[in-house]
Amino acid sequence: MTLASRAAASFGETAEVETLSRSRAAAQRPPVIGAALREATTLSLEGISLSFGGVAALRDVDLAFADGAITAVIGPNGAGKTSLINVITGVYTPDCGRIVIKGHAYSRSPPTKLASLGVARTFQNLGLFSGLSTFDNIAAGLSFAVRSSIFEQIFGVGRARSEVAAVRRKTEQALDLLHLER
Ligand SMILES: Nc1ncnc2c1ncn2[C@@H]1O[C@H](COP(=O)(O)OP(=O)(O)OP(=O)(O)O)[C@@H](O)[C@H]1O
Ligand SMILES: [Mg+2]
Repeated sequence: MTLASRAAASFGETAEVETLSRSRAAAQRPPVIGAALREATTLSLEGISLSFGGVAALRDVDLAFADGAITAVIGPNGAGKTSLINVITGVYTPDCGRIVIKGHAYSRSPPTKLASLGVARTFQNLGLFSGLSTFDNIAAGLSFAVRSSIFEQIFGVGRARSEVAAVRRKTEQALDLLHLER
């Protein structure tokens, strides 16, 4: 069973999976996800494969994630879960297939580009900056969204002023959400 079908099986009878199954059955050949489903989803994978030498971590994976859904990927050790997340977030480049985000297809995009589109991952092993405050550790995670140069930020000119204010506001929201203000 491929990881895609395992994921589908784990979701039983959710609407998303039923729609995906129907569109696949109707397709001439997999792994094409129906245009209607692609339109309705924020993120989908089409025909994703990834191998490490002779080991096929992902083979022809099709998945579609509906807006607002929380989706879990389950499977035994070595099933390809981490590889899947790494491909979605650009940490790994798939051998073939593509990621479709909000209707636009990407087959090779760096994590920074995908992060700016709202696709990002966290890691199990935390990589905190030990020399920075809690505030600055969180703010560092928002740096991808800042377009102004370091000099503009130092002198607080142009767009830097509003960008820095936005980062501060979002960081404070995260601190508040996690009750980490103190
Ligand atoms: N960087 C790598 N180099 C070589 N082989 C890899 C690499 N990453 C993963 N693999 C192999 O790809 C397959 C899928 O591994 P992956 O780590 O994605 O599985 P997983 O489902 O996340 O497993 P676990 O539950 O142990 O975290 C395994 O056979 C693994 O050995
Ligand atoms: Mg893993």
